[in-house]
Amino acid sequence: MKLVLASKNPHKLREMETILSQLGLEVVLESDVGVDVDVEETGTTFAENALLKARAVMEASGMAAIADDSGLMVDALGGAPGVYSARYGHLDSDQARTAYLLHNLEQVPAGERSARFVSAIACVLPDGRTVTAQGSCEGEILFAPRGENGFGYDPVFYVPELGKTFAEAAPDEKNAVSHRGRALHAFLSAWKENLHAE
Ligand code: IMP
Repeated sequence: MKLVLASKNPHKLREMETILSQLGLEVVLESDVGVDVDVEETGTTFAENALLKARAVMEASGMAAIADDSGLMVDALGGAPGVYSARYGHLDSDQARTAYLLHNLEQVPAGERSARFVSAIACVLPDGRTVTAQGSCEGEILFAPRGENGFGYDPVFYVPELGKTFAEAAPDEKNAVSHRGRALHAFLSAWKENLHAE
């Protein structure tokens, strides 16, 4: 089965297609099926926003759609940027948002910079059935970026489990422990449980 990814982010596509291919699912971007949907993420949770995005793209394409809504929650900032991670500070680049995050944490000492990435996955089929899952990954925000891989806040997110930042990790290493990797594995189980007759 082909799933349309409700995202224009090729990084997310790469992270998702490796894992979903295990179910024989092929993931394509909206642009590959001629759909360009701008969904207003009005939900207050990652799960709500993932469902909003997947449902909108399913309706526009007539095909099964999958969405990931994800973000970074920093304890010292009361869980910010959270669902606003992609729009943090109303800034328009990963570098600017990361610099803004580091600026907001300037006075926060090492040991108090705990954070987690959270990912909610939602898939909506044309008959209205949904499959959802969630995953998270614990880490700490460094004082300066490290590494060149990945995207978003990866260079400042240090993962004790890996001994490096997400941006220093190879794609497979990141997938093995990341919020999205974990959400996708939970999604595999939920899919098999709910749709095994398909
Ligand atoms: P979304 O595309 O609306 O889900 O926004 C997610 C935002 O959270 C992205 O723009 C990134 O800033 C951040 N984010 C989510 N997942 C990751 C990740 O794996 N690495 C780094 N940043 C991420």
